[in-house]
Amino acid sequence: MNDRAHPTSDSSGRLQLDQAAIDAAAKSIDDGAVTPGYGPWRDDVVKLLNDALATELVCNLRYRRHYFTAKGVNSPAIAEEFLVHANEEAAHADKIAERIVQLGGSPLFNPDQLLERSHAQYDESSDLQSMVRANLVAERIAVETYRQMIVLIGDKDPTTRRMLEEVLADEEEHADELSDWLTR
Ligand SMILES: [Fe+2]
Ligand SMILES: [Fe+2]
Repeated sequence: MNDRAHPTSDSSGRLQLDQAAIDAAAKSIDDGAVTPGYGPWRDDVVKLLNDALATELVCNLRYRRHYFTAKGVNSPAIAEEFLVHANEEAAHADKIAERIVQLGGSPLFNPDQLLERSHAQYDESSDLQSMVRANLVAERIAVETYRQMIVLIGDKDPTTRRMLEEVLADEEEHADELSDWLTR
């Protein structure tokens, strides 16, 4: 079904809603928040979100391990920063999982598939400098991935796009903080 509901302007240039799509939304109540006008890309959006969910979960694990192992080495402040980021990645994962469910999809938490789906890598570094560097690389991957997702989604799903824009702003902040640490 490629005929997504489309409000249009008529020949006189007046703005008009698509009444047929509104009627269809009222009739089919099985799909929760997803109306028939959503368009044919629901599965693609859910897949993009599940890959982002895997990325957030891997990033949470990487930062958490860095927090516990860097703690007390020589920079408690950076370890604390890792923990803040870890918790923010976990919050991103929660938001994304919630949206997947709203879209009628299944959020994938199976640990076997996480690294395979994740855009960013886990990291086993033991020195602080390498940890900061690995996290910066992962954040830059996240920034680029979210930016592309936002472009792909465009006006197809404003709620998902808005959520991704908020997550993107956080990832940019993370990357910025880490590059400050690298140059100290
Ligand atoms: Fe994140
Ligand atoms: Fe991040």
